[in-house]
Amino acid sequence: MKQFLSASDPSDIDELITDAMDLKSKPFRPDLGKGKTLGMVFLNPSLRTRMSTQKAAMSLGMNVINLDIGKDAWKIEFEDGAVMDGGSQEHIKDAVAVMSGYVDILAIRTFAELKDRQLDYQEKVLQDFVRYSSVPIISMESATRHPLQSLADLLTIKEHNLKRPKIAVTWAPHPKALPQAVTNSFLEWSHFIDAEVVLAHPEGYGLAPEFTKGITITHQQEEALEDADFVYAKSWSSYEHYGQLPQVAGNWTVNGKKMELTKKARFMHCLPIRRNVVATDSVIDSSIVLQQAKNREYSAQAVIQQLIKELL
Ligand code: CP
Repeated sequence: MKQFLSASDPSDIDELITDAMDLKSKPFRPDLGKGKTLGMVFLNPSLRTRMSTQKAAMSLGMNVINLDIGKDAWKIEFEDGAVMDGGSQEHIKDAVAVMSGYVDILAIRTFAELKDRQLDYQEKVLQDFVRYSSVPIISMESATRHPLQSLADLLTIKEHNLKRPKIAVTWAPHPKALPQAVTNSFLEWSHFIDAEVVLAHPEGYGLAPEFTKGITITHQQEEALEDADFVYAKSWSSYEHYGQLPQVAGNWTVNGKKMELTKKARFMHCLPIRRNVVATDSVIDSSIVLQQAKNREYSAQAVIQQLIKELL
């Protein structure tokens, strides 16, 4: 594996999940990454991704450098050929070339701006990191995907050892417009496990066709939840009316009554979660969200481990 930006990058996703399971039973392997450095660059806030990826690298014996662009560093200019006489002090071209000179692997979190669909779906910022970096890039979430989350999600589902589980992926309400990245990515990765996946969302919240190809879609949340083994809730803003929150009929909050339609389903969410908006307290408190969050550590470690092996 030369980089980790999407499900297309690992040569064998089964092997990556097996590696993550193996690391979970014996995480501390300080010899592999000794003398190597992971750079972690954030253009947006993070709790889980920041801590789990740092811990993963440290368990492999690596040094870690963290940088919050916009807080710790100069303001970056992203436009090619820009006349930089405004507020930005440093061009992405120079910043990435310099950063990658200090580290062996560079991890980057970008985010969808939710203004211009074409711009977000081109992944301009992530692709600039790839273009100007001299070392492998790990995506810690980009405008359209969250592959480290998806790998942790597959690991979590596999740990429950169910034969061809039904996974209901459902849109849920949220007061703010959020990107489609987590759901896009989960749908993309779900093709690599043996599962029946049903996507439920209100009218106006359809996702990009490249991510929903081959996925069963319904506008009836209850229909999706029926006999589900896993319920994965996530809010996202409209792809069609890009970044907007079209009005939704009915109540899409996941509650205990809806969970009764399932086969005692395990409730999943990537976190952070708005309690009693996305799902009720009782649903979250009896869920597997902490297992998912813990598995972020081992999914990151499996990815870093494979990339380090390529460097040796
Ligand atoms: N799930 C997730 O990526 O969480 P953070 O935004 O806190 O990293």
